[in-house]
Amino acid sequence: MRFETLAIHSGRGPDPTTGALATPIHQTSTFVFEDVGVTRGYDYSRTANPTRKALEDCIAALEGGNAGFAFSSGMAAETTIMHLLKAGDHVISGDDVYGGTYRLFEMVMKDFRLEFTFLRMDDRSRIEGAIRPNTRMIWIETPSNPLLNIVNVEMVVDIAKRYNLITVADNTFATPYFLRPIDYGVDLVVHSTTKYLNGHCDVIGGAVVTTTDELTERVQFLLNAMGTCASPFDCWLVLRGIKTLAVRMMQHEENAAKIATYLEKQPKVKMVFYPGLKSHPGHETAMRQMEGFGGVVSFEIEGGVEAASSFLRNVRVFSLAESLGGVDSLVEHPATMSHASMPEDVRRDVGITDGLVRLSVGLESVDDLIEDLEQALDHA
Ligand SMILES: Cc1ncc(COP(=O)(O)O)c(C=O)c1O
Repeated sequence: MRFETLAIHSGRGPDPTTGALATPIHQTSTFVFEDVGVTRGYDYSRTANPTRKALEDCIAALEGGNAGFAFSSGMAAETTIMHLLKAGDHVISGDDVYGGTYRLFEMVMKDFRLEFTFLRMDDRSRIEGAIRPNTRMIWIETPSNPLLNIVNVEMVVDIAKRYNLITVADNTFATPYFLRPIDYGVDLVVHSTTKYLNGHCDVIGGAVVTTTDELTERVQFLLNAMGTCASPFDCWLVLRGIKTLAVRMMQHEENAAKIATYLEKQPKVKMVFYPGLKSHPGHETAMRQMEGFGGVVSFEIEGGVEAASSFLRNVRVFSLAESLGGVDSLVEHPATMSHASMPEDVRRDVGITDGLVRLSVGLESVDDLIEDLEQALDHA
């Protein structure tokens, strides 16, 4: 089946007891046993829950993986994956990953004696040069947050396979509609379902998709042991959101492309970061490995933090808020918001300047969005 059909049907089916078309919300902590030692397939909702299972199966089908797991947040999904590793293991990560991912690695997991190297993932010899005898994992995010850098997934997987490393791809920005990392050989896909998969700015959630029975078994074990699972109601909301993922992504992209093109022509805009633009350094790779470029556009305003602040104070249709991937257009300032947990010098090295602004282009009329940007830029 094709993507649009899978998004609506996979993991679901009429409820076997009532015929309900919509997946029921199994809001229960526990399940009654049929007999001593005999369940109907479920015993306790931390371990497994039918509404969660519907979402997990759906995401696994969309990503083309072995199994899916739904977590209480993207960070819960990431924290759980980190527990595949042991003290003394080393991870190579992209240097401009989401600020919360950086914080988890640097300020939490390091205390458990995991080691991290952050680097720009655009050069084979740089990545190979960072591999140590204790390296176990390569972590990529593509397009990255907030600079929309594109990682050549095939190249990273090729290196990882040569050195027997696990590859993890955070596919939050692209979604499986635009990129399926597993098709290129990635071992684990992680999502903040808070973003496009749910798509309506009303859930915090995460997901992991595995590719082997061994990884499936271990992630299932960790999810249950660590209790990082998503609630049935949140799973139901994400399942509902995914039904329209394909049409939403198409429209997000159409609006984002128009906005990126508009911004490129503005004298107050120093630089636009959008992989769909020919000027973007990752454009060719994005064209090759993705079906589209997504709905996030970042740009640098002339005049640094002051100009950026005036711009942010004056938007009317865009809302000044963290997060992305919903129907509502949002704007944020990475240096003080999503990436504030990165030390200033690291932020600067990575290219997250004080004048950088990130737009999550929503599904309002693109003309209203451009008019809003125009009047806010007048204030910058
Ligand atoms: C790319 C990416 N990964 C992971 C996360 C973390 O997800 P959550 O906020 O659902 O914990 C975010 C949140 O912004 C993100 O943008």
